[in-house]
Amino acid sequence: MTRKPGRRSTLVGTVAEEVLAYTAGEDRELDLALVEYDCIGTAAHAVALSRLPLTPPVMTPDETHRIIRELVEIIRSHRRGAFRISAADQDVHLAVERRLTRRLGEIGRKVHLGRSRNDQVALDMRLYLKDQLVSVAEQLCSTVRALLRQAARCRSIPMVGRTHMQPAMPSTVGLWLAAFAEALLDDGSDLQHVHTLADRCPLGAGAGYGVPLPLDRWLEARLLGFRQPVTNVLYAAAGRGRLEVRALGALAQVMLTLSGLAADLIIFSAPEFGYVTLPEEMCTGSSIMPQKRNPDVLELMRARAAALQASVQAAAGIVHGLPSGYHRDLQEIKPLVMRGFAVTGGSLKIAAAVVGKMTINREALRRAFQAPVFAADEAVELARQGLPFRDAYRRVKERLSGVESRRPEEAVSRRTGWGAPGNLHLEVLQAEARRLGQWARAERRRFHRAVSRLLGVQYPALESSG
Ligand code: ARG
Repeated sequence: MTRKPGRRSTLVGTVAEEVLAYTAGEDRELDLALVEYDCIGTAAHAVALSRLPLTPPVMTPDETHRIIRELVEIIRSHRRGAFRISAADQDVHLAVERRLTRRLGEIGRKVHLGRSRNDQVALDMRLYLKDQLVSVAEQLCSTVRALLRQAARCRSIPMVGRTHMQPAMPSTVGLWLAAFAEALLDDGSDLQHVHTLADRCPLGAGAGYGVPLPLDRWLEARLLGFRQPVTNVLYAAAGRGRLEVRALGALAQVMLTLSGLAADLIIFSAPEFGYVTLPEEMCTGSSIMPQKRNPDVLELMRARAAALQASVQAAAGIVHGLPSGYHRDLQEIKPLVMRGFAVTGGSLKIAAAVVGKMTINREALRRAFQAPVFAADEAVELARQGLPFRDAYRRVKERLSGVESRRPEEAVSRRTGWGAPGNLHLEVLQAEARRLGQWARAERRRFHRAVSRLLGVQYPALESSG
């Protein structure tokens, strides 16, 4: 091969080095997260090629078998940290194909028949999204359980409920924490919904217009553990991006919830409140002020939540107004998505640890109960004695200094409506968390089973199934 200075020959032509560097962008690193999916997808495609009803066959079952054995080896070397994506490869797709060709010669050169990097990357991203959504859902369940355990422990510890940050009504620590648990469970159903949308296989779409071969798209979908193929091939390959925007939206929703928890904890752990003490090992010190125990983790959670919101806009902006068909623009969504999953998983984990290990300070919570916080209760009592509520309200408001202080425990125990401080129904949220956890486990099992069957070795362990 002739090599002109400043140029590099790749599987798909000769390109200037600076162009390769510019177009590959972060792909050479980020695509390492896609290696297993690319190999698994290639295995399914090789099976589909061997099942094409053509004579002579474009790929024999034996050739497919050898390809799959080599793909398993690629996954193994990737796990050892030995699989590289070179500058000439640009991305995981060409790196895997080049390695197959290097090891298997002509057989390797057959494997790209009937596919394009466009359906390949769409497939890799869908498999990645499904996996990550399940992982985040599992982490979310752990965080919900940590919140519910702490809520159960503090079920009847009185806490001043606030609106506008002003003392409002008697409440409990249990109510405060369980509210975040329920919010996260709602966010969890967004994750499930996006997973359902991701659970359709784009293979067979090629560059976005199908391929002139009788490829069995349902077979490919089944082999990979998808419920079905994406129906329209243009949407399958070139409709990439929308799904990622939705995934980022679901993650941003989780982070939105966590940002509220972070804000509360930052305020309530400040000495002036002192409601909670953050676990010592989760606070950071100051380089100048020896007394400081700073809630840096919570501040970063808050900032990363904001940045994630912005990345939903960034991704939607990239997709916005794109003409039909594949465009390289879509590649720029990949770093946003990968960072989104890392941030959300990490934040859920930290939130669970903070909530599980923080100390609740009953005395500080009790000190915050000043008589006016019982004003609404007093008005309600007058109304129960027959005074129209608006008159009762006025009467209490006119002599606020006369509002009687009450026992906070007594005041919260009277709030017995469904889900109120005196009647939390934590078991409802516990059951919902259990269901979400079961769903995640079942989805993971379903994928692992399909891949084990496809590769002929136990996945993810990669031990031979004998
Ligand atoms: N790295 C590329 C991406 O993320 C892979 C697809 C390249 N396809 C193409 N037609 N240039 O989109």
